[in-house]
Amino acid sequence: VPVIRLAGREAPVPASPAISILVSLQREGVRIESLCGGRAMCGRCAVRIVAGGDLLSVPRQRELDRLREIGATDGVRLACQTFPRGDVRIEIVNPGSTS
Ligand code: FES
Repeated sequence: VPVIRLAGREAPVPASPAISILVSLQREGVRIESLCGGRAMCGRCAVRIVAGGDLLSVPRQRELDRLREIGATDGVRLACQTFPRGDVRIEIVNPGSTS
């Protein structure tokens, strides 16, 4: 089972290639903004990929469009649009409410 590791959190978050990083984080109560509810609309769920980027799903066009809109730098993905098939290490760009 893949895990997501976070700076500042000891316990890894269980993940799945079938579940977005956003949903996996929310299930563990990790604080991350998600204003649009995971629809690639708000860009608030951005995460910086520290390690394991090659184990992530390839970004689709709507994610690429949103990333460009928010001025994301290389290595930033939308947690709601990204599915891990192996272990990754990330940093949350906008920790906020859990909803
Ligand atoms: S939750 Fe809005 S873009 Fe991911």
